[in-house]
Amino acid sequence: MAKVGILGAMSSEIALLKERMSDRRETERAGRTFYEGKISGADVVLVCCGVGKVNSALTCQMLIDWFGVDTVINIGVAGSGGEAKVRDIVVSTDALYHDLHGITPEDDILADSYPFVSSFAADPKLVQLAAEACRKQGVQVYTGRIATGDQFVGSKAQKDDIVARTHPMAVEMEGGSIAHTCAINGVPFVIIRSISDNADDGAEMSFETFEVLAANDAAEIVTTMLQNL
Ligand code: ADE
Repeated sequence: MAKVGILGAMSSEIALLKERMSDRRETERAGRTFYEGKISGADVVLVCCGVGKVNSALTCQMLIDWFGVDTVINIGVAGSGGEAKVRDIVVSTDALYHDLHGITPEDDILADSYPFVSSFAADPKLVQLAAEACRKQGVQVYTGRIATGDQFVGSKAQKDDIVARTHPMAVEMEGGSIAHTCAINGVPFVIIRSISDNADDGAEMSFETFEVLAANDAAEIVTTMLQNL
């Protein structure tokens, strides 16, 4: 049976899953708490990794090395890159760094150096399971690219620049680095994000209003998805 590592950056993003976990055991390492137990019958290690690329990458590596997870799911909220509306779900097809990718038109830094790719592909089976879980729950789902960077995208100008360079369905701050960590370890992953805002001038207010609702939306999808893993 799969052992699934689940990461959320903020406590709001893991709260519902933590409540739903049975046989829960806790381990503290490097300032974070790892919760081992079962959700929907699946073996899970759940962790709040903290915000940003470094926090999420190092925690993902800990899940793989210390806890032996063989599947990774990143959940939480995100800003929309375009089509997806607040409280729609975006499931990753791939993830990249908008603060490293295509900063100039010739520029593709990761493709020119290790690990020689500019974006990291999600596992197609996990993508399908996540999308099916959304449909089963009657939730609007989009599959597409996640663009990750160490910044909250909160202005139209900032969003337009990222969209022009990377064409994302959603923007956030951890998925790309989790994808990167999984790719270089050969571990399948998927990112499931509920839209909390439009990553534009109204983003901060929308984020504050919808953070908890959207975080719980993504957790609901994972709960359903784990039944079929
Ligand atoms: N997470 C949720 N909304 C976001 C935004 N607008 N930018 C970055 N990360 C986010």
